[in-house]
Amino acid sequence: MPDLVAHGLLAGLDEIAGTGRDLRAGGYSRHLWQGADLELRAWFTERAERLGLAVEVDRNGNTWAWWGAPGPGAVVVGSHLDSVPGGGAYDGPLGVVSALDAVARLQAAGFVPTRPCAVLVFAEEEGSRFGVACLGSRLLSGAIDADAARRLTDRAGITLAEAAVTAGLDPAHLGRDQDAIDRIGIFLELHVEQGRGLIDLGEPLAVASSILAHGRWRLSFTGQGNHAGATLMTDRRDPMVAAAHAIVAVQQAALASPGARATVGRIEAVPGGTNVIPSAVHAWLDARAETDVQARAVVADITARLQAPHAGCSATVVEESWTSTVAFDAELAARLALVLGGIPALPTGAGHDAGVLASRVPTAMLFVRNPTGISHSPDEFATLEDCLAGVEALDTLLRELL
Ligand code: GLV
Ligand code: MN
Ligand code: MN
Ligand code: MN
Repeated sequence: MPDLVAHGLLAGLDEIAGTGRDLRAGGYSRHLWQGADLELRAWFTERAERLGLAVEVDRNGNTWAWWGAPGPGAVVVGSHLDSVPGGGAYDGPLGVVSALDAVARLQAAGFVPTRPCAVLVFAEEEGSRFGVACLGSRLLSGAIDADAARRLTDRAGITLAEAAVTAGLDPAHLGRDQDAIDRIGIFLELHVEQGRGLIDLGEPLAVASSILAHGRWRLSFTGQGNHAGATLMTDRRDPMVAAAHAIVAVQQAALASPGARATVGRIEAVPGGTNVIPSAVHAWLDARAETDVQARAVVADITARLQAPHAGCSATVVEESWTSTVAFDAELAARLALVLGGIPALPTGAGHDAGVLASRVPTAMLFVRNPTGISHSPDEFATLEDCLAGVEALDTLLRELL
């Protein structure tokens, strides 16, 4: 790949390749304001400042790197650096590195923007620490109530408000940041594709057309904590058994609703001892579908199936976050696709900060092919050629928009 090496493009991915490696899960675990995330923030600041960009952290912990003076009508390009537990190297960082590289290329070519431009790194896109995906963009845009956000807790019981203090933010200032929103003329996010859409199309790039409606719910099962040896099988009220039946019900409800997806990817037994029948089990449901109505119906179906929980236990379902179907600005998407030589449009089942911003400002996304079709896994991948095509596309778009 001599060309890529000569361009120095995507070196940023190599620079952060050792940060936040998860030796247990494989891949990367980079969570808001903890070790790896703090290192990546410092790396981004240093990288952006090397390009002469002015770095600022907004009141919600999102990081902006301005090329020229901040101002209204800005073309803002960005993504995120945090990850799911055991995530891949590309989900988030590819968009950030590509944005920095596109700016570097334009600078090297002597291009002078006529509008403000910023590279933006959103905080806690995956919701891996505080449970709400796209937390930084939701706070910025007012899509989450600030009081509710302040009360969110991580697995250690630390509230977002407490963590914000540790990160040097004033928790009283978390929430809708209209001044920051008002500066964005257009938001662009480049992202590795997370399914097989581009493999099936045989194309390296696409613009995003839509995002599935999606949300997260906490399913809690309560029984009787007891001794694993002294309690007869017929005498138990075991919430783990209730949770097991519920997880099968989750799969059945999604299978019964064509195109819907429902996942339990995290489960916690309380207190969590091998020789202890749990007193409670919490399971987190992620459900998605093409329309809000369909996604809500799947969750209603799951909820109904839990009304008679197994093993004499009780069950509750609590919504933790919700995002309606996103239809990206079709005119903007068509314009960008045309500028890029007629690349296809693609829907996605993955959530993005761009999806949150789309209801506030003109927003578009570019997807880069993922030849494994696998994401939120160490097996996520993108070839250097396709990544370079992504940087070139951003470069072309910025020339057009700036
Ligand atoms: C985030 O990537 C999500 O779609 O859950
Ligand atoms: Mn992700
Ligand atoms: Mn992402
Ligand atoms: Mn995402």
